[in-house]
Amino acid sequence: MKILKNIDTEVLKSFRAPAFPGSYFLSFEGIEGAGKSTQIIQLKDYLESKNFNVIVLREPGGTPFGERLRKAILESKSEIHPLAEANLFASARAQLLWEVVLKELENPGTIIIADRYLDSSLAYQGVGRGLGFGHILNLHSQFPLNLVPHLTFYIEIDVETSHGRQKLRNAPKDYFESQGDDFYTKLISGYNQALELFPNRIKRIDGTRKLDEIQSEIRVMTDKLISENKSVTDQKEL
Ligand SMILES: Nc1ncnc2c1ncn2[C@@H]1O[C@H](COP(=O)(O)OP(=O)(O)OP(=O)(O)O)[C@@H](O)[C@H]1O
Ligand SMILES: [Mg+2]
Repeated sequence: MKILKNIDTEVLKSFRAPAFPGSYFLSFEGIEGAGKSTQIIQLKDYLESKNFNVIVLREPGGTPFGERLRKAILESKSEIHPLAEANLFASARAQLLWEVVLKELENPGTIIIADRYLDSSLAYQGVGRGLGFGHILNLHSQFPLNLVPHLTFYIEIDVETSHGRQKLRNAPKDYFESQGDDFYTKLISGYNQALELFPNRIKRIDGTRKLDEIQSEIRVMTDKLISENKSVTDQKEL
């Protein structure tokens, strides 16, 4: 496993899922247009029908402080230095964990769904911007940034599919969407490396299939997590 060579195993061991009985933390990952937001809405409905209290968070953002940082990044007209970018995302995330995630998970029956999380930082800043996985993992190795989801759905699509769906959406391009194909290829490679590093936590989903098929797969995996009730103990292998 080539990626593991350059990564401090102690740092890797610092990552754990939050342990609150009956509550779960999920995240969705994938490049622009993968279908994250679409799938999250449907999963939220499904979980609410099972009487869970579902809270969807978007990254960066989710708190007043985080939303301001989100604007600073996504609406920036000039290029942001990769280190500034990585630290801004980590700042928004630390605040979100402290202000929202940890407090909400204390209530049993809560499911937090994050629209992007740590793996976006690994893919975008670690590989896309070239800071390296080691840097991003180090930056997240202390509490509360070392908290990772119980389950992460990586919805995988290719660059062409992403472009096609972005065109259909017809919205103005944001900071990341205006990047070229090379950048997207790097992101996909970044996500693949994250999968290598966290094979138990991250589930790869083929995002080029029909919406309903993807949703069924996601529901089956979520049901399995809940039935195994993994959140009561710290997961050793993430
Ligand atoms: N499996 C699918 N098949 C066909 N179209 C899809 C599929 N999934 C999503 N779409 C369409 O692609 C577009 C992008 O989907 P969505 O907004 O959910 O992606 P996203 O991953 O949240 O993107 P972003 O990172 O830009 O927020 C939407 O118009 C959506 O309807
Ligand atoms: Mg979205």
